[in-house]
This record gives sequence, C-alpha cells and structure tokens, in this order.
Amino acid sequence: MKILAIETSCDETGVAVVEAKNGLKNPSLRVLSNITLSQIKIHAKWGGVVPSLAKEEHQQNLIPVFKKALRKSGLLIPKSEFLISKQTPKSKLQKIPKILEREPKLLEQFLKLMPAIQTPKIDAIAVTVGPGLEPALWAGINFARALALVWNKPVVAVNHMEGHISAVLLQNSRNSKHKIQSAKKSFGFQHSIFEFPTIALLVSGGHTELVLIKKWGNYKVIGQTRDDAAGECFDKTARMLELPYPSGQEIAKQAENFKKYPLNFRMDGGAKRKTEKEVFNIKLPRPMIDSKNYDFSFSGLKTAVLYMLKNMKERHINTDEFTPTICNEIQQAIIDVLIAKTTRAAKEFKVKTIILGGGVAANKELRRQMAAAVKKIPDVDLRLPAYKLTADNAAMIAAAGYLRALKRDFADLNKIKARGNLSL
Ligand code: KG4
Ligand code: ZN
Repeated sequence: MKILAIETSCDETGVAVVEAKNGLKNPSLRVLSNITLSQIKIHAKWGGVVPSLAKEEHQQNLIPVFKKALRKSGLLIPKSEFLISKQTPKSKLQKIPKILEREPKLLEQFLKLMPAIQTPKIDAIAVTVGPGLEPALWAGINFARALALVWNKPVVAVNHMEGHISAVLLQNSRNSKHKIQSAKKSFGFQHSIFEFPTIALLVSGGHTELVLIKKWGNYKVIGQTRDDAAGECFDKTARMLELPYPSGQEIAKQAENFKKYPLNFRMDGGAKRKTEKEVFNIKLPRPMIDSKNYDFSFSGLKTAVLYMLKNMKERHINTDEFTPTICNEIQQAIIDVLIAKTTRAAKEFKVKTIILGGGVAANKELRRQMAAAVKKIPDVDLRLPAYKLTADNAAMIAAAGYLRALKRDFADLNKIKARGNLSL
C-alpha cells in the first residue's frame, strides 16, 4: 500500500509518500519521500505561531511541497499534451473551486498543476484533522478533499498524536536495548514487531500525554498535563532567558554546555566564586512527581524560573552568566518528571514496550536518561523515533494513516473537518 500524507496542523507544511506492507501484526514501512517546509522564521518575530499566518503559508506552499514529495518518490509523471486534452476530468475540476474557496492561492496552483500530471499509484490520502490550529488544519484537509476527488482515492482522517506514536514505525527508529530484533531493516523497509501493552509518552509543544496502547488503534490517555505542555515549558522558560525562538533546542544546547564545563557555571564550585552568588541555590521543583496519578503540570516550574530570575536580579547576580546552569536544571526537572511517571506507569500496566514521541523526543538527554531508566525494568523495550521524525512531519501521518487504512477506516469527504481539540 502506498499512502500520500498531508500535515498542516501547526507551522510545518508537510507532504510525504510512505510504502507499507504486512498489516497490523508486523507493519513494515518505508519512506519514499518526506518533505517539510518550516515556517519557524515567519512566526519567530511574534514569539509563537500565529494561526492565520500559518494557514496563509500552508495554502501558498502546499503545491510546491506536494510536487517535491511526488517527484522524490517517483510519482510525479507529467501527462502528454494529448492526454491533457483527453483525460482531464472537467466535471471533477469544476467542483474544486467550491472545495478550495477559502484557499484561493492553493486553488490557483491546484488547477494549473493537476490536469498536467498523471494520477499516481497510491492507495489512500492521509491527512491530519486535529489536534492543532483549526485554520491551519483546514488548508491540509481541503487539499486532501480536492486531491481525493480528482484522483478518486479514499481519505484517512488522522489524529496528529497518533502520528507522533506511529513515527516509531518508520525508518531508523531505535530499539534501546538492541537485544530484541524488534526493528529490522531490509530494502529500506523498517519491519517492526511490537509487543503490547505499550505505553507512549507524547511530549510536544501542545501536549504531554501518557497513552496506554492495547493494540494499534486502541488508545487510552491515562495522564496528561493540567496546564502547560513539556515543550511549552521549554519554550516559555527559554523566552524568559532571552534565548532565540524556537527554544526547546536552545535550552538543550545550553544544558549541554553546562554538562561539558560544569565548574565554569557552578555557583557553589571553584575557588573563584566566594561571594554571595555562589551559595545561590539553583534548584527547581519537579511538579507532581510524587502524585499518585499520571497527570503532569509544568506551569509551576515556569513560575519558579520566573521568581528565581527575579530574585537573582534583585541580588545583582548576572543571570546570563548562569544560563547554562539554569537551563540544565530546567531540562533535568522536566526529564525527571517525565521519566518517573512513564516508568511507574510501565510497571503498573505491565507494559512490554515504551514509545517516545513528539518534538521534545528530540531531546538527547531525555532519550539517554529514558533509555537508562527503562533498562532497569526487565523485559521492557524502548522505541525511539529517528531524530528527524520527532518534529511534525507528514511521514508519521502516513504511518498512522496506514494503520487506519488497513481497517478501511475512511472518511466521508463531505463530513471531514478540522478538530482543533481532537483527543486520542
Ligand atoms: O511535535 P512538535 O514538533 O510540534 C507540536 O506538535 O507541538 O513539538 C515542538 C516542541 C516545541 O515546544 C520545541 O521547543 C520542542 O518540541 N523541542 C524540544 C527539542 N526540540 C524540539 N524540546 C526539548 N529539547 C529539544 N531538543
Ligand atoms: Zn506535533
């Protein structure tokens, strides 16, 4: 089965083609193309993603990204002049202006391109329908509807979070223990055998969730954040420290500096600092780490950083000098909570596999420390997505789309809609 997928839930315009086989028991997938165009620079000056701007960018960039993805997977085949005049399904094209009435720039490019290319050999179109920014989601959904109509292909409505879970089915995802041959590669296909129950820790800019998975498609959220998401906490505290947007990686980079040269940044270390500064204790809370449930809360951590910085300034401490120390502590506080809750849930629900997913899963320390923690639990396998598949991309949407397409879980083109708050 070949799936073409579209992702526009936030600030990345993504189109991918994934080939998949072997069904739900032993899904084997390979990425034929996975093109992502990031809008980060456009939103950077606003300090966050602006939904209307995101939609505008998506509608402008979908066709170029789509063309690249088709070309890379060998599916962009031009029609001959003869076929263009003979085969263009005029009646179908006439319906497109209505479907894309809110995306005029996309419409114009669509009507120009589609009559000139052959229908590719794909089996379904997967598109993210939520959660995310509704105006942004609509651009992708309407594009999928228009393609489906012209090509006569079914559409699979995909939950973005199921996409983050499914990223581990794609190439180069890792098995932490290397002892179980659960992820093998051949001819570019990643063959995966997953033992259930599985638990997924999903950590992104908008979500922090622990999801119990009994089998593919059967998800139960057993815990989630009550306020800010883990990624949001990285982003917001980074802003307080005046680090450049987008900020999760910046905190990680600064923390790495601390790890490399701890004495330079330690307030209590080194004979150099024998003033009041050195006794200033940089210790942040680990919110809800001991609570009996699996929920998270990161806004208190954010506030703690705010007060700590204020306090340091009042004492005329140059906070810049200690940015790596502070970043290391922020990162460690978040990691401690994430690992404590995930491993506790893994033991309680006797899971066989732990999956990490979402943008924050790119954090090297989180990956390293999670692997070390999971190693201590007998017979549990940790699955980490490839670094480049942690951030939003369309290949993961194709992977999730495959799991649904196998059950012929197709959407009604007239009813499919953006669902900003869609849950798993
Ligand atoms: O999944 P994602 O790409 O988009 C959403 O669906 O939200 O996640 C983006 C989040 C941002 O909050 C970003 O700061 C965070 O992932 N992030 C990181 C790292 N790379 C990205 N957080 C910590 N460490 C990183 N290396
Ligand atoms: Zn995401």
